[in-house]
Amino acid sequence: MSRPVLFAANWKMQVGPGEARLYLERFLSLDQPRAGRSLAFFPPAVSLEAVATALAAHDHITAGAQDVHWEPKGAFTGAVSVPLVRAAGAGSVLVGHSERRHVFGETDAETAKKVTAVLAGGLQAMLCVGETLAQREAGETEAVCARQLQAALSGVDPQADVVIAYEPVWAIGTGRNATPEDAATVHGAIRAVLASLGLPATTRVLYGGSVNAGNVAALLAQPEIDGVLVGGASLDPDGWAAICQTARP
Ligand code: PGA
Repeated sequence: MSRPVLFAANWKMQVGPGEARLYLERFLSLDQPRAGRSLAFFPPAVSLEAVATALAAHDHITAGAQDVHWEPKGAFTGAVSVPLVRAAGAGSVLVGHSERRHVFGETDAETAKKVTAVLAGGLQAMLCVGETLAQREAGETEAVCARQLQAALSGVDPQADVVIAYEPVWAIGTGRNATPEDAATVHGAIRAVLASLGLPATTRVLYGGSVNAGNVAALLAQPEIDGVLVGGASLDPDGWAAICQTARP
């Protein structure tokens, strides 16, 4: 089955509103839209509205939030809610990114509440899963991904707008990445869990973790890999525009 390819940029704690506007002006001058490919940008919350405004006329590109609280409003200093990011122009939300799980201590139960809130708020949930190096070395990769998927997606409406990003924790920002074949094997296991949870075969599973101009083509050559979620290599508009031109072979 051929699923449309998605190139997603995760800017993490970088690129303020002014810089985001300049970035997108440059990026949009280089990007060549094509059928069967869409794009997403996940800027920090303070830049979300600037990004969404710059992308308003570009239907193939979504602006998204990097995280949300599961409550719609209230006394949660420093947090943003689904209604707030939606009002700022978000169409998608990253949930359960490994930095949320491993730097901020987010649990599977909290990730599940966020997925529920995002979908109930009418936005796409881009759920991130992946194993640590110790878990990989212990042979637990597929079990960890299955646990994270089941915790976050059990009971989700099969029609819900869900994208999965498989991001091995040891590959994020380290310059090390899974071989395309290894990644494809895990993607296949993820797809089997998604099927067991009732999610359709059209659900996209992206790969993330030290993706760059040198390895993106080999990753996308794997039919199981439906796109990429990219941090470091998405920060330069020229480099990211070039990566986004990569076609499936
Ligand atoms: P990286 O980050 O591309 O810098 O490894 C990916 C991510 O964390 O989404």
